[in-house]
Amino acid sequence: MAKQKSKSSARSGYGYGGYGGNGYGGYGKTDSMFAVQEAYKAIRTNIILSVIKDGCKKLVITSSVPHEGKSTTAVNLSISLAQAFKRVLLVDCDLRKAKIHRALGIPGDPGLTNVLSGLADITDAVHATKYQNLYCLPAGLAAPNPAEMLASERMSSTLAQLETQFDYIIFDTPPINVVSDALPLIKISDGVVLIVRAGITVYSDFDQALSALEFIEAHIVGVIVNDDNGEEEGGYGGYGKYGKYGKYGSSYGYGGYDKRRSVESEKPAEKEEKEEIEKID
Ligand SMILES: Nc1ncnc2c1ncn2[C@@H]1O[C@H](COP(=O)(O)OP(=O)(O)OP(=O)(O)O)[C@@H](O)[C@H]1O
Ligand SMILES: [Mg+2]
Repeated sequence: MAKQKSKSSARSGYGYGGYGGNGYGGYGKTDSMFAVQEAYKAIRTNIILSVIKDGCKKLVITSSVPHEGKSTTAVNLSISLAQAFKRVLLVDCDLRKAKIHRALGIPGDPGLTNVLSGLADITDAVHATKYQNLYCLPAGLAAPNPAEMLASERMSSTLAQLETQFDYIIFDTPPINVVSDALPLIKISDGVVLIVRAGITVYSDFDQALSALEFIEAHIVGVIVNDDNGEEEGGYGGYGKYGKYGKYGSSYGYGGYDKRRSVESEKPAEKEEKEEIEKID
């Protein structure tokens, strides 16, 4: 069973100080879907209690490196929030590896890039989903300049428009150690949820991500440990498994992991991501 940690406990020695978790011990394995749903409800409750303000709440889901479960968490948390609130919007801000639309069974465009480039109206780009109260703004057409698009004035005005219509807006984003796309969104958000994944996240990556978030004074709502089978109290099954680094190579749409700090690595995706996302329906 996965767990959620407070920021300080997460950094200072892996002690679980948090609450809830995403229940992914059972992801296709032994736990029931009920347990997974309950785990997401626990995360939902803690988010609701952590982000107190009137009007629309904006939450960014991010992580340090690829494949930690950002999109999976964004989809399932959005479904869970939509069970409790009237209007929830999930925005696919991973313009390099868009996959939210496939998980929700809606078209990939018109979407965010269509709106930002003036090719579509926001009302056409926001799609209803099969989940009551859950709407999705997919990434849209592949764009050559994702970081610029997400930091643009038009993005701000689009969000201002959406905020008047939704109770919660959830942003799925690319990994912050690899590309800078998520940073402007994090700055204007009400909270950030950082995902780490047992067997993939190593401490140095996590620490780097945390430092970047602290530098921009992000409000870190919590850290979700994904895919933790609960056998190790430390949770970070990947800590020390440096062989995992090899996985962040050219097969990713974010550019080579080794070049992750260089601007040249911030390329758009060249091929569509084929991975499936498991949902709590
Ligand atoms: N707990 C889990 N157990 C098993 N598989 C998982 C788990 N979480 C995610 N996955 C799978 O791992 C893959 C990556 O997950 P996901 O796309 O959610 O990660 P991501 O952080 O959004 O990746 P990216 O950085 O590439 O966007 C997907 O195939 C997903 O189904
Ligand atoms: Mg993703």
